[in-house]
Amino acid sequence: MTVQPTVALLGTGTMGAGMARNIAAAGLPLRVWNRTAERAEPLAGVATVAGSVAEAVDGADVVLTMLYDADSVAATMEEARGKLGADAIWLQQSTVGIAGTERLARLADELGVAFVDAPVLGTKKPAADGALVVLASGPQQVRDRLAPVLDAIGSRTMWVGEAGAGSRLKLAANAWVFTVVEGVAESLALTRDLGLDPRLFLEAVQGGALDAPYVQLKGGAMLDGSFDPAFALSGALKDAELILEAGRSAGLDLAALPGIREHFARAVEAGHGDLDMAATYLEH
Ligand SMILES: NC(=O)c1ccc[n+]([C@@H]2O[C@H](COP(=O)([O-])OP(=O)(O)OC[C@H]3O[C@@H](n4cnc5c(N)ncnc54)[C@H](OP(=O)(O)O)[C@@H]3O)[C@@H](O)[C@H]2O)c1
Repeated sequence: MTVQPTVALLGTGTMGAGMARNIAAAGLPLRVWNRTAERAEPLAGVATVAGSVAEAVDGADVVLTMLYDADSVAATMEEARGKLGADAIWLQQSTVGIAGTERLARLADELGVAFVDAPVLGTKKPAADGALVVLASGPQQVRDRLAPVLDAIGSRTMWVGEAGAGSRLKLAANAWVFTVVEGVAESLALTRDLGLDPRLFLEAVQGGALDAPYVQLKGGAMLDGSFDPAFALSGALKDAELILEAGRSAGLDLAALPGIREHFARAVEAGHGDLDMAATYLEH
């Protein structure tokens, strides 16, 4: 029988909570920590809820971070300093972009732990269902040891290269997600402002080559006004900025993303930052 790694999961937000449940369901010993303790409490039945980062990571084989951005991840991992085991692996799954990943990799070096950059595709429901796609990158020699964790949270893991490659692919994938969301919002707004029932747009594309489950899901949510956050607009704005920064550093001339970023920012300024990113439609 193989010994299951002990996991410390830091950040039990929208994504982290579902991931934690699946790690526990796979039989892996689990500690969880969250800045706002009440958000970790519902996991008490399946995990040890730690009162501090240091308590959570002490003796853990895998430290999984699923926090907001590079600043929050770095600040949290600073609190783990001196408590991380020599063989511990840091599995960094928050979306932090290219520079953010480089900064966290340097911090991992300083902390003396192996660093794996493994952002995910999928939102609240795939996280709850253990059906994320993991874009993993990092040293070959730790990959097998992470398999029980990655198998628990995802339906598929792609190993795409050295640490940093996963985050690069994640930015490209999010650029596509945002293009679809904003594209649907614009086509609905056009249909509406050209004097028609906007639902006619969703009906017109339904079942054709340009339909997708996501088109109907997000388009329907926009028209129904159901904005319970699967991915909050404020997080989408953060990621749109990471994509633009990456595009600039690669010398790319991106056409859609600058406008999408403006529309997301406008909706956040209007007070919709905590709503699902489909709420960009409210400002069209
Ligand atoms: N939701 C999605 O569809 C999705 C999909 C793929 C990737 N992601 C990425 O996954 C990460 C988590 O997303 P989420 O949707 O789960 O976000 P979320 O629900 O907003 O959760 C964010 C987490 O970060 C913590 N946090 C924020 N600032 C912090 C700080 N300064 N110090 C310590 N902890 C801090 C929050 O703690 P509190 O509870 O105390 O606020 C919470 O645990 C983000 O990087 C996001 O871009 C999200």
